[in-house]
Amino acid sequence: MGSLIGDLMQPALQYSAPFLITLGVHVLDPNATKSIITANHVRATQNAKSKMADVMPDVRKKLDDWSAAANAIDTGGSLVSLYHQLAIFTPPDKAASAHEAANAIWRARGFQLNADAYMHRQALLASLPMTLTPRFHKDLAKMRRVTRKTMANAIHMAPLIAEWRGTRTPALVFGGRRGQVMTLDLFDNDLGNYNFAIIGAPGSGKSVLMNELAWSYRAIGAKVWMLDLGRSFEKLCRKAQGTYIEFRPDVDICLNPFTIVHDINEDIDMLVPGISKMCSMQHTLDEVQYKAISAMVLKLWREHGNDLTITGLRDAFKTGTIEELGSRATSASAIWPSCSTPTPGVGSMSASSRAGPMWTSRTTSSSSRTRN
Ligand SMILES: Nc1ncnc2c1ncn2[C@@H]1O[C@H](COP(=O)(O)OP(=O)(O)OP(=O)(O)O)[C@@H](O)[C@H]1O
Ligand SMILES: [Mg+2]
Repeated sequence: MGSLIGDLMQPALQYSAPFLITLGVHVLDPNATKSIITANHVRATQNAKSKMADVMPDVRKKLDDWSAAANAIDTGGSLVSLYHQLAIFTPPDKAASAHEAANAIWRARGFQLNADAYMHRQALLASLPMTLTPRFHKDLAKMRRVTRKTMANAIHMAPLIAEWRGTRTPALVFGGRRGQVMTLDLFDNDLGNYNFAIIGAPGSGKSVLMNELAWSYRAIGAKVWMLDLGRSFEKLCRKAQGTYIEFRPDVDICLNPFTIVHDINEDIDMLVPGISKMCSMQHTLDEVQYKAISAMVLKLWREHGNDLTITGLRDAFKTGTIEELGSRATSASAIWPSCSTPTPGVGSMSASSRAGPMWTSRTTSSSSRTRN
């Protein structure tokens, strides 16, 4: 029954309008049904044995049906009278296509829908909860809207179906592919990991979703930091009155990573790849060059500590040699080939054209300047 609310992966098998699937079950009086079943079972058995049975194929089917009903009664089950009602809420001009979409969904599961021509009021009442009174059931029976089934049939065909409803906190509100409203909070993960990834083809809406996430979290007072390569979040940042920090060659921002280092031995693994990129934007360095950078950083750190700058590091590469590499002592200038024009105070990191803008919302930092 799960796919009767639409197919998760196939848009052609999804409803095009809001819909309501209702199952109405009227439990029949056990004593009355028992005598009806017995009488019908006897008659069906007689018919199936008659000579006419060979030319009337439905006689056999009827016997099977009544045998199943008799078996159900024998094993303590009971019979019910039930109907399924599908209501689609759509403007008249879109009714035909909505009907076709619904037909396709049910047909794919082996059901044939019957359109309710001129019977909308009764159909709508039958769709609503708390309407199935004994008198209304009689009305429905008169219009042949109900069929007799076993209790097990009713359970198996109950539309107790829905999509995933999301997590408990409604930080973000989405509509599922099959119409279920779902709430989501990335921080609802009790197992403690709040990472998530958005994966999609180019132009499929990844940045739109990121904007939605950022905006929704801002709406509940969260602080949001975003790294933006491609200016997907600039407008949102301005709308949220955030701080948009932009890295461009003509912008005088200095990010000196050494000022925030506490333990160089812990941070060196993170610093070296960044510094290598400054040394050579296009090509990866040799293993020995990586080691040379590490050694030089550690050497200068011991001398300058947090006052060490990228410029200082570059100058050291330009002139010095690295004794720590022993017999393979390298002329350091070979590592930093593009350092001929010193720019005091500005590391190559900030001048890199590949570095995109970053924005923070509701944060003020004395070391970062706002660009508008
Ligand atoms: N949910 C949506 N509602 C309306 N328009 C949308 C939606 N999702 C995406 N779009 C449209 O699709 C365009 C591309 O979306 P978006 O820029 O988010 O894609 P992307 O996956 O980030 O692409 P890229 O991989 O190129 O960064 C948007 O400019 C927007 O017009
Ligand atoms: Mg994008």
